[in-house]
Amino acid sequence: MMPFTPAFTTRLSEAAGTVEASLEALLSDKAAPGEIARPPRLMAAMRHAALGGGKRLRPFLTIETARLLGAEGQGPLRTGCAVELLHCYSLVHDDLPSMDDDDLRRGRPTVHKAYDEATAILVGDALQTLAFEVLADPATDSAPGIRSDLVLGLARASGLGGMVGGQLLDLSAEGRYGPASLSDADVRLLQMMKTGAILTFSVEAGAILGRADGSARQSLVDYGRALGAAFQVADDILDREASAEALGKRTGKDQEKGKATLVDLLGMDGARRECRQLVEKAHACLDRFGVKADTLREAVRFVVERQV
Ligand code: IPE
Ligand code: IPE
Ligand code: MG
Ligand code: MG
Ligand code: MG
Repeated sequence: MMPFTPAFTTRLSEAAGTVEASLEALLSDKAAPGEIARPPRLMAAMRHAALGGGKRLRPFLTIETARLLGAEGQGPLRTGCAVELLHCYSLVHDDLPSMDDDDLRRGRPTVHKAYDEATAILVGDALQTLAFEVLADPATDSAPGIRSDLVLGLARASGLGGMVGGQLLDLSAEGRYGPASLSDADVRLLQMMKTGAILTFSVEAGAILGRADGSARQSLVDYGRALGAAFQVADDILDREASAEALGKRTGKDQEKGKATLVDLLGMDGARRECRQLVEKAHACLDRFGVKADTLREAVRFVVERQV
């Protein structure tokens, strides 16, 4: 495997640093204008969920896509944080006893373990609404049309026809609601919804902030779709092959729950082949952007070669 370039690793870790600082500020105990008060227990549990862990891949994609189009600063940073808040909410709820029932996330106890289940549900709810508040705030972009595009995009990616819908299909794939026999196409659809939609939106948000024209925006969305698909195949491979210590979350869960993944349907070699094809597909979508898109090119490789 080729090592990642210093330029890429620096950008990834710099983005993670600025995202961490912004999230810390957003999750302070001090009430924001218009709020009544911030209960300290809720805030501590929200910080547990959102700070001090995670690859911060989604904000990185927003920041780098915006940068490709010449947009930098608070807009892409805040938008990336909004997507990360939404992602953290999805993880808190995904780990709940009634969902995947996991005790470990990002190398630490899950929120319902560290606090309790009711708090974890509220943490998810509050992270979600905060994500939309951040997008709707004029500090994110002075143009109301851009802000409403961002809100619309995140709602569609994360709601019934995106992540939430995908999570329902994912639970069905365990056979909870009756016998499930999934085809490759069924699994791809489920994955496009549960994981792909938000990753695709992370990229599209950068295109929105960078005022991409329709055709550039479409190329970037296509790139995001291929990257998102590759991401979940890699997650399923890691669930099968990596250790909980390395990953910071329990592994072997999909098999234990009898959940159909592409690793089952295509075999390990087939899943790896699928990853390689998706990397090529994602790269082809970036051709029109030339060397300026090198960081986004490397990001796809990171998604499939990552060990965490
Ligand atoms: C894990 O996402 C959950 C899935 C969508 C499969 P990540 O692998 O991006 O998790 P963090 O944010 O780095 O912890
Ligand atoms: C989670 O998928 C996807 C979302 C949170 C939307 P998984 O259940 O496979 O994620 P991990 O493996 O627990 O991180
Ligand atoms: Mg799950
Ligand atoms: Mg899970
Ligand atoms: Mg998984």
